[in-house]
Amino acid sequence: MSLAELRPTDAGAANAALIDLRRAGKTYATKTGEVVAVEEVTLTIGAGETIALLGPSGCGKSTLLMMIAGLIAPTTGGLTIAGQPVDGPNSQLGVVFQRDLLLDWKTVLENVLLPFELRGEDSRPHEAAARALLSRVGLANFEDKRPFELSGGMRQRVAICRAWIQDPNILLLDEPFAALDAFTREQMQLDVARLSLDRPRTTILVTHEIPEAVFMSDRVAVMTARPSQIREIVEIDLPRPRNVATRESAAFGEYVTRIHSLFTSLGVLHG
Ligand SMILES: Nc1ncnc2c1ncn2[C@@H]1O[C@H](COP(=O)(O)OP(=O)(O)OP(=O)(O)O)[C@@H](O)[C@H]1O
Ligand SMILES: [Mg+2]
Repeated sequence: MSLAELRPTDAGAANAALIDLRRAGKTYATKTGEVVAVEEVTLTIGAGETIALLGPSGCGKSTLLMMIAGLIAPTTGGLTIAGQPVDGPNSQLGVVFQRDLLLDWKTVLENVLLPFELRGEDSRPHEAAARALLSRVGLANFEDKRPFELSGGMRQRVAICRAWIQDPNILLLDEPFAALDAFTREQMQLDVARLSLDRPRTTILVTHEIPEAVFMSDRVAVMTARPSQIREIVEIDLPRPRNVATRESAAFGEYVTRIHSLFTSLGVLHG
């Protein structure tokens, strides 16, 4: 599919465009030569939609997400958020990084409140909200522990709370559930979907789990192996709120099978 054919879907077009990538690409200069991580991505993301970036390991998903976060500058093309060019970090975004990046010398509660501290604000008025979030993800009695005392999955849940505490309009989630066991993972997918029901948030979810992408998203952007491009955008027309029954529905299974065969045809999966 050529770039010209990559038009926003009807669902995306119905919402006001919020994030707009125009031929955004990233080539890393390394000691052994250049690495084209993201070839060129042209994509419009509507306000309030959840889109998954789905692709094999190393295809440039994190790079693409960090470009949107303003933490990595594109080497070709560019992008805007709400019409403003992205040229540096944006504190209005909530980001969950692939590695949890918790500070071991601070308590769990202090880690959740870190965004306020970084902005030089008083975090005390947000303590109750932080405790409520921690309790919601099953960490009610862990507020005063240090991150090194927690399991990988628990740490990731703290990182998710830290992204949520600012009530951001845009959430960037880089494999936020990867370190979680299967049960917690499923619960967190439900919780994140539910947390976004009270107020629509624009969410970009990086994952390499096909069922997770289908369950969470309004659209799934299928990425090719490096140098990556978005190969196809699949619109997920499943009713919300999504719940356990969603996963058991025939339509859900059909989306998973369809995307699975797309990856097989791209040579990412071998039968
Ligand atoms: N800072 C860097 N310097 C050089 N090359 C990099 C850098 N960061 C990433 N890369 C390369 O760019 C490519 C894309 O990396 P990226 O982390 O974006 O992939 P990914 O899709 O998020 O992978 P995964 O699913 O394993 O997290 C890889 O080949 C990686 O080696
Ligand atoms: Mg990654």
